[in-house]
Amino acid sequence: MATYLVTGANRGIGYEFCRQLQARGETVIAVCRSADADLADLGVQVESGIDITSDAAVAELVSRLAGCPIDVLINNAGMAQRVTLEQLDFDSIRQQFEVNALGALRLTHSLLPQLKPGAKIALITSRMGSIADNSSGGSYGYRMSKVALSMAGKSLSHDLKPRGITVAILHPGLVQTRMTNFTDSGITPETSVAGLLARIDQLNLENTGSFWHSNGELLPW
Ligand SMILES: NC(=O)c1ccc[n+]([C@@H]2O[C@H](COP(=O)([O-])OP(=O)(O)OC[C@H]3O[C@@H](n4cnc5c(N)ncnc54)[C@H](OP(=O)(O)O)[C@@H]3O)[C@@H](O)[C@H]2O)c1
Repeated sequence: MATYLVTGANRGIGYEFCRQLQARGETVIAVCRSADADLADLGVQVESGIDITSDAAVAELVSRLAGCPIDVLINNAGMAQRVTLEQLDFDSIRQQFEVNALGALRLTHSLLPQLKPGAKIALITSRMGSIADNSSGGSYGYRMSKVALSMAGKSLSHDLKPRGITVAILHPGLVQTRMTNFTDSGITPETSVAGLLARIDQLNLENTGSFWHSNGELLPW
């Protein structure tokens, strides 16, 4: 049994991570801004009131978790707002950087002392942050913030390899969550998370720093 910390745990993909990990018998620390009833009823350890853009909130999380070693850190929290060239909204772009790129890096950096030797870090990025895969443009804030997150993941994989800590950079697929208005063309959170957990399970010092689709496909940068 290992200890997993999941951000953005109250709904969507983050909640499903908590549900499947709990069913597997793992210890789950569910981090969120506020806990919905489903999460509160799951029977996992819930740490609410944590906005990952806040230095003070993340420091508060670290102090709450003092003495609790973590095996797997899943940086899942994220946001998506549509920003087009015609309506370039720099406040929105900045906010998406704060959450998607800086928030995940802040949390990871703050929790590094609590990661066990051999620990794993997963960053839930997006194919929308692939430069090679960008065939349609637009989505300035989301695309730019996710490519920044993926780059942080690649650097973390090099910097933490000597400590035996591995990093996976993961695309969940197009998933039926609030972020996509529960799109009919998406896969379910159940299918996505089953794949994401398989990728995290197969992560090792040889393949650390890889960018994978939840279905196992290696994605282009
Ligand atoms: N769904 C897809 O098709 C898809 C595709 C590619 C990548 N992704 C990525 O997958 C991850 C999960 O997305 P989802 O589809 O499950 O979306 P979602 O249902 O919108 O959930 C997003 C989660 O992130 C949390 N969050 C947002 N801003 C936060 C902040 N400042 N501090 C702490 N938590 C914050 C939200 O908390 P609140 O409830 O408090 O707002 C919520 O729990 C995201 O990183 C997303 O970019 C999703």
